[in-house]
Amino acid sequence: MRKAFEIGFGESSAELVIDKIPVQGKLPSWLEGSLIRNGPGTFNVGKQSYRHWFDGLAMLHKFSFKNGLVSYANKFLRCKAYDEARKTGRISYSEFATDPCYGIFDRIKEVFSPRITDSAKVNVAHIYNKFVALGEPSMQIEFDPETLESLGVFLYDGKPNQHITTVHPHFDQVKNEIINLTVRFGRVSSYRFMRVNNSETRDLLAKHPVKEPAYQHSFGMSPNYFILTEYPFVVNPLKVLFKAKPFIENYVWKPERGTRIFIFDRNTGKLIKQEITDAFFAFHHINAFEVDNELFFDIAAYPDPGIIESFYLDKIKSEENKLPGGEIRRYRINLNNRESVDYSRLSDEGIELPRFDYDELNMSKDYRFIYAVGISSKSKNSFYDQIVKSDIQSGLSKTWFADGCWPGEPVFVKKPSASKEDDGVILSVVLDENKGNSFLLVLDAESFSEIARAEIPQPVLFGYHGNFYGTN
Ligand code: CO
Repeated sequence: MRKAFEIGFGESSAELVIDKIPVQGKLPSWLEGSLIRNGPGTFNVGKQSYRHWFDGLAMLHKFSFKNGLVSYANKFLRCKAYDEARKTGRISYSEFATDPCYGIFDRIKEVFSPRITDSAKVNVAHIYNKFVALGEPSMQIEFDPETLESLGVFLYDGKPNQHITTVHPHFDQVKNEIINLTVRFGRVSSYRFMRVNNSETRDLLAKHPVKEPAYQHSFGMSPNYFILTEYPFVVNPLKVLFKAKPFIENYVWKPERGTRIFIFDRNTGKLIKQEITDAFFAFHHINAFEVDNELFFDIAAYPDPGIIESFYLDKIKSEENKLPGGEIRRYRINLNNRESVDYSRLSDEGIELPRFDYDELNMSKDYRFIYAVGISSKSKNSFYDQIVKSDIQSGLSKTWFADGCWPGEPVFVKKPSASKEDDGVILSVVLDENKGNSFLLVLDAESFSEIARAEIPQPVLFGYHGNFYGTN
């Protein structure tokens, strides 16, 4: 097996606090704040192993920048799934694609008291005065951004066990709103757009009943609309509630349904438009905006949900197939006409984990650059091995690739005095297969050339999302 996969999908590392890690190159003096990242901290519990990249026990990582120096800390998220795994040496809670080994009596018990993971490992968010680790089951975990200590459960929407949420809430700076999409399973299932008003109260802004809910990892939001993209990858809710199989394996691909696009008015909550287009699947909406009577949304699309299959660890490790890349598509919907939806392709690069300058250009038509991971055309790798910058206006791309290096999600940090969209840096945690550890890579976002790297003494397992929080 390739060493990178043995390390990056392997065992946990130590929990460290290091004041100063060695830096090669020169960090920009304006870079001050912390990159906080989330992801699996281990794929093994005792003698048992998780099966899929989206399983595992959450670990937070923090790289802090001040005066040209970098500190590092990492910590497992303390939650029931973690505590029980440590106590019993067994996988005790259901993850995305791994269930605990059940006996018949366990399975009956499970129906009445489901043990769905609270190991929120997919993203982090700053929600009012709280920092929260985000996972798809609704139990989010608050943590202290200084110490990375876990502080307890944070819920978007009432009952903890009957729904999932996306790990990509939207932040509307103009309206000062934080919004997320939740999916409730029940006798009548529903999609629900929730506004998080503060730590305690929520408002239900829009609700749509659904017989067979689709898997939802993100949603689109423009100044006036919510965009719910319902891929035909759907589930009978009873199967989720009664846990016939691990969570994602209950979903069925029904391409004949097509992908349905629901547009809700953000002010009234009303469903104003519903379109059907050819079947596709996506994890990530990227950006959305309006021009006159047209609504546009960009999305990293796949022809089908085969990408989820490709993330089973045995598939990645056996290097059976090259990972499919998401196609950056721009969908256009005419808000006045009936049945008018089409899309154009914005880049030739296959990508995933797309980011852009969200703080300034979310919901704006003027954005031009998408940063993402991809698979190099030089390699036939079964996992992401390069960073891509796609100029969606020209269709041209820049890439960063280094043999034996496996970069994670690129996070853009803008220079405070920036006059151009890409005046800033890209931060990415890279697993170095040759040295057996990880480093934080700092790229000039404009030229995409390396300006610095800061090494830690151990590897960071392959993770998902993170954010940079400036000190100002
Ligand atoms: Co995501």
